[in-house]
Amino acid sequence: MSNGVYPTGSSAAALPLQESRVPRNAESVRVGVIGYGYWGPNIVRNFSALDRCEVVSVCDRDVKALKRAQKTYPGIQPTTDFNEILASPDIDAVAIVTPVWTHFELSKKALEHGKHVFVEKPFTSNSAQAVQLIELASKKNLRIMVDHTFVFSGAVRKIRELVDNGTLGPLYYFDSTRVNLGLFQHDVSVLWDLAPHDLSIMDYLIREQPEAVVATGGNHFNKLADMAFISVYFPGNVTAHINVNWLSPVKVRTTLIGGRDKMLVWNDLEPDEKIKVYDKGVEITNGQSLYDLLVSYRSGDVWGPKVDATEALKLELGYFIDCILESKTPSNDGAAGLRVVRLLEAAEQSLKDRGRIVAL
Ligand SMILES: NC(=O)c1ccc[n+]([C@@H]2O[C@H](COP(=O)([O-])OP(=O)(O)OC[C@H]3O[C@@H](n4cnc5c(N)ncnc54)[C@H](O)[C@@H]3O)[C@@H](O)[C@H]2O)c1
Repeated sequence: MSNGVYPTGSSAAALPLQESRVPRNAESVRVGVIGYGYWGPNIVRNFSALDRCEVVSVCDRDVKALKRAQKTYPGIQPTTDFNEILASPDIDAVAIVTPVWTHFELSKKALEHGKHVFVEKPFTSNSAQAVQLIELASKKNLRIMVDHTFVFSGAVRKIRELVDNGTLGPLYYFDSTRVNLGLFQHDVSVLWDLAPHDLSIMDYLIREQPEAVVATGGNHFNKLADMAFISVYFPGNVTAHINVNWLSPVKVRTTLIGGRDKMLVWNDLEPDEKIKVYDKGVEITNGQSLYDLLVSYRSGDVWGPKVDATEALKLELGYFIDCILESKTPSNDGAAGLRVVRLLEAAEQSLKDRGRIVAL
């Protein structure tokens, strides 16, 4: 952690720190962004606002998208050809903001051409691809950061603080609901589209190696699941549950986290007081025999901790630039991306097999 703000603590061993291609005395990083559809403009806007970063070029196959980019950022070089970005000696890092199935090829090419990579979630379409990219980046001394945006949100950073400082006590469960009507994706299921958010948040908060995954769900329009219920089992009786659904009449973004000492609700749709911490719990005292369990319920105060409102993407992209300039391995590196992809693969397998337990 460089300034006490960025998330830390990848649960897997971090890759060895290595020299960046950007000289140590460099003061800024020059970025090329590929993909200016729905999410790309957010990436360009946040990179452009950073002091130590310059967006040199935006690439999109769609000329209309490029015109939009040029109108907002007249100084950038627009291109429909990714090879121009790869060949440019004026670009140190590439942000890949294109559909999931393109992530591997584009990231691989960028790394092969000596560019650091910021790539959207989910990192790749399968774990073999993720492993290949991690090895390539390591060999070429380059950084990979996977966009796990929520990990940089004030709410998730606050929850991590409450987990780490013991406020919640040992964790019992993580239960996340991310449902709304649409936006249907034509190339990925709801699992690969929405669940990476919850899985990356879960990975950041629980920091244990999960043991098994069970998923059920359904597809109602094509072969791709439009609803999925995923359970993840951790050692120590900690369970996570994730509900992602494109067929919900209402939008819900709510996460419950239960610990022995306190429980919390994070409602991301609340403008203020996104997190409420409940001093509620269950206390068990053993009687003489198994049948004499005495259960009592504790119900105390409710508390709304202050949550930093800084845009998550702004912090995340600033961290990416810092990691390049200071030769640091990001917490949301390729290894973090790989952990999420492995969980997605296991959940997809279980879903196909109607809820079979898939060991990890
Ligand atoms: N982190 C988040 O919160 C978040 C939110 C939304 C989307 N995403 C991710 O961002 C990525 C893009 O999603 P989107 O919704 O912006 O998709 P989109 O389809 O709206 O935009 C993708 C753009 O990439 C362009 N493109 C595709 N392949 C290209 C190529 N080879 N060369 C040049 N241009 C190319 C397309 O023309 C399109 O304009 C996905 O991986 C998605 O999961 C992340």
